[in-house]
Amino acid sequence: MLRIYMAAAGLAIMLTAHGNAAVRYLAPTKIWILETDRTSYVLGINELNELQHVYFGKKLLRDADLVAVRATGGYAFESKEGMTPEEYPGWGGMRYFEPCLKVTTAKGTRDLVLKYVSHEIRGDVLDIRLKDIRYDLGVTLSYQVFPGYDIIRKQSRIENRTSAPIVVESAQSGVWYVPAGGGYRLSYLTGRWAGETQLMREPIQPGKKVLESRRGNTSHQANPWFAIDAQGAADEEHGRVWFGLLGWSGNWKFSVEQTPNQQVRVIGGYNDFDFGYQLKPGEALETPPFYGGFTDQGFGETSRILHRFERAEILPDRASPHPRPVLYNSWEATEFAVNEAGQTELAQKAAKIGVELFVMDDGWFGQRNDDHAGLGDWFVNTRKFPNGLKGLIDAVNGLGMKFGLWVEPEMVNPNSDLYRAHPDWAIHFEDRPRTEGRNQLILNMARDDVRDHIFGVLDKLVSENNIAFLKWDMNRHFTEPGWPEVPPAEQKKIWVKYVNNVYDVIDRLRARHPKLEIESCSGGGGRVDLGIMRRVDEVWTSDNTEAFDRLRIQEGFSQAYAAKVMMAWVTDVPNMNGRSTSLKYRFLVAMNGSLGIGANLNHWSNEDFALAKNMVGLYKSIRATVQQGRLYRLRMPPDDVMANEYASNDGAQAVLFAFRHSQQLGEPAPPIYLRGLDPNATYRLRRLDGLLLDHGEELSGSYLMNQGLRFNLSGDFAASAVVLERE
Ligand code: DGJ
Repeated sequence: MLRIYMAAAGLAIMLTAHGNAAVRYLAPTKIWILETDRTSYVLGINELNELQHVYFGKKLLRDADLVAVRATGGYAFESKEGMTPEEYPGWGGMRYFEPCLKVTTAKGTRDLVLKYVSHEIRGDVLDIRLKDIRYDLGVTLSYQVFPGYDIIRKQSRIENRTSAPIVVESAQSGVWYVPAGGGYRLSYLTGRWAGETQLMREPIQPGKKVLESRRGNTSHQANPWFAIDAQGAADEEHGRVWFGLLGWSGNWKFSVEQTPNQQVRVIGGYNDFDFGYQLKPGEALETPPFYGGFTDQGFGETSRILHRFERAEILPDRASPHPRPVLYNSWEATEFAVNEAGQTELAQKAAKIGVELFVMDDGWFGQRNDDHAGLGDWFVNTRKFPNGLKGLIDAVNGLGMKFGLWVEPEMVNPNSDLYRAHPDWAIHFEDRPRTEGRNQLILNMARDDVRDHIFGVLDKLVSENNIAFLKWDMNRHFTEPGWPEVPPAEQKKIWVKYVNNVYDVIDRLRARHPKLEIESCSGGGGRVDLGIMRRVDEVWTSDNTEAFDRLRIQEGFSQAYAAKVMMAWVTDVPNMNGRSTSLKYRFLVAMNGSLGIGANLNHWSNEDFALAKNMVGLYKSIRATVQQGRLYRLRMPPDDVMANEYASNDGAQAVLFAFRHSQQLGEPAPPIYLRGLDPNATYRLRRLDGLLLDHGEELSGSYLMNQGLRFNLSGDFAASAVVLERE
């Protein structure tokens, strides 16, 4: 498969009748071509001197095919510019569809018409400068091409060069168009706490669909990823798919719109709800990065493109990727009842099964005996830890494991020393009640003094203790988003500045402690996006650790994000839904991501420990393939049988996981056809159990992909796995 693809790519290079630069400007036709290995993105300046979208899709092989662009359409009720796919429409003139930028000037003018000024090509980056027809309000659109990853990144910078303040009411990162026409289908991820990343698909109809967060962070309720396929015809293997992801951990919005003129587009950026960002003369606002791509090989390839890109260009270890450790987390075992003796006992048991990182969760600090007190007081509770953290950390390190610690730095309980000293630090309006969520308020991280306090606390914690890992949690969303210390005209900046200051603290912390690793958590998967992922090594997927529910959550997650960052714990049963599954089933589900264990090991039997040790050993032998390899979703919900295959990039190993929900009428499980193998290679099978039916010990890629493998998955919640090693 890999060789076939490489051969095809080689052919494409031979046929390409132009230079190799990823960004090219064709001066005679005023056209730019942004090119990745397999896609082309084309835009140009039309006769109105406006920036117009031309094409995004499979790579075009001849520059000479492209002619100068012209705005089209126009009649009494629609203008040419309104009907033209503009790359960055301002709200002004005769335009009625979702704009990329909307402003109000100091005089109250609400009309913005952006025209092309100049451009600059810097390697794989194209900067295009636009300016309003009257005011010196400039926009720089930056397009960065990632040729080997088939991804283009858009970002815009809005600059007020006038002599009076301007209020930006909507600032979008950019717009992605699909070819004009109807019949498209939208895929997106929605959910709620303990039910994140549920994959939805629905036809795109005339009108608008909004996906958004108004909650101050990315949210469990919707995730900033979309995919659009042509004629709703794509599946895991086939079909044209356009997709995008926003890198922002605050209020965001996607407007998926089909105009009456059959333009289908997705505009994404800051949520314009309660936005109102004031720019004083000389000030600028940068929008979040908006990443987009195209494939003609369906949703499976969409995900593989994104996973590869995230590992190579987004994650903190992008320069030298390394596998995630197997971790233990105390939360579900002990909740707030942590102490040195109890955690040491768990650590001893965790070490025996091969855990590499022991993480103590909530409950270790201040007066934190339940969720009513303590947040903000980030000093160790000496009643629980008489030797400070050192006693436990030394024990954990002595067992050969690294130590990690839970923190929730952005939060404060009213019942805390911090709040008693600084009640004004919590986000609030002066004359309004302060709504508590989980008995806590949010510290106003938009304030630089609060930001610096938080940095100081975390820096001290990490400097004084051998902490290798922080789990950074955030357990409520914004309410009453006031910031009384700044003038009313600037208070709405809180939405942007808060997030940038969270990023700033993490960035400074990592710069000061280069070996420190961080997990992003927000009551589960509430803060999962490419903005935070540039700064954290992994994310907590969901507080729902029930294995069968997890399959669906993980499957949605995998549409957009790499298995490497997807933390998945094995926990106790009965779990959510009152459901119990076998320990083996729970391990196999969790092994589809970055494996963790969150069970109370004090309740495990000798058999449980033996099985866990084997499973952790198996995971270590395949984790490079799961975490860094290519994912093939072979069978997905609502199928009774689900199967995922991970194939290593060098083709040496593949691993197949198979799960059955409930056998009915004695039906045998269907064969599972593998993908992405070399048909001519021979693979040796490493069986996990006796459930794999009669097959030889060595099988060709051709057999595995065409004849498939059959498992005896009977009863309810059966699971198995097999590892294939290339001979
Ligand atoms: C929410 C997280 O998602 C859990 O894993 C745990 O860390 C709790 N917070 C602790 O309060």
